[in-house]
Amino acid sequence: MRVVLADPLAYSEAFDTALRSACPGVEFRRWTDCAPDTDYDLLVTWAFPPDMAKLPASTRAVLCLGAGTDQLTSDPRLPDDMPVVRLRDPAQAQQILDYAMHAAFARQQDDFSVRRSQRARRWQRAVSEIRDRGALSVAVLGLGMIGGHVASGLAGAGFRVSGWSRTPRERVGVTAFHGEGGLVPAVTGADLLVNLLPSNQHTRGILDGRLFGLLAPGAYVVNLGRGDHLDETALRQALDSGHVAGAWLDVFLQEPLPADHWAWAHESVRITPHCGGLPTPEGTAAAIAEAIKALDDPRNPLVSGKPLLDSQNS
Ligand code: GLV
Repeated sequence: MRVVLADPLAYSEAFDTALRSACPGVEFRRWTDCAPDTDYDLLVTWAFPPDMAKLPASTRAVLCLGAGTDQLTSDPRLPDDMPVVRLRDPAQAQQILDYAMHAAFARQQDDFSVRRSQRARRWQRAVSEIRDRGALSVAVLGLGMIGGHVASGLAGAGFRVSGWSRTPRERVGVTAFHGEGGLVPAVTGADLLVNLLPSNQHTRGILDGRLFGLLAPGAYVVNLGRGDHLDETALRQALDSGHVAGAWLDVFLQEPLPADHWAWAHESVRITPHCGGLPTPEGTAAAIAEAIKALDDPRNPLVSGKPLLDSQNS
């Protein structure tokens, strides 16, 4: 079994150690050490390297170093019948819960208004703090492996959580809605909106002006899904009108975010460089070991030629 790692995130001592321990006997090589005509069975990457012309005929699957696979599936270099395995790393889901939790506390204490007062040297309490956690209403879009973990985690911490997914899903502590008709009741009156949907034709542009209008005045919006979920113009309008009081943005249409983008300088925006949840060495190594086992099992769908694209986090 020949595995090529094509993402600098995996080029570290910690990844080497985890891979050696989870996948004994497997040959791992880094993309940067491979000649252009190198053959391999499994490619592990977030997106195809810019200098990759096409996958070699020897490729049996691509393991996506991320929970969302759209950056691979939208790439014309991916053959139609190539299995794509998405990463399911519980430690990554936990990091994303921590990010969302941080945002929930920021909204609870109305952090953006606190900072505005501080900059103006004004001795003034936050404009719309919500002292009681149970009174803070959070809407989580996407209840799959990550969204479900985040929604239940926030509920477990005492926030009032509703969730929305395209297909019905139950999550502990979460008032769950689904389908087209479920979106409005899921988000109406929310103080915090957390997006964890996958990007697809059903979800692109879902964070729009209509949705922002349904949120409680002073709401914060957190985008941890994909940049194409967000109508940036609508967000800017909602922020400038004050109806949305803050946005935590981890993902963007164009990454890295260009230096002249308005969001960098907006006083009600917090920007992180697509790092809300990073794949961990142990989680990645376990996923690779599982994919290798599946490739070696003739009854497994990984060798049936059907892409393993699921909508687990929709
Ligand atoms: C991150 O964006 C991921 O898809 O895991």
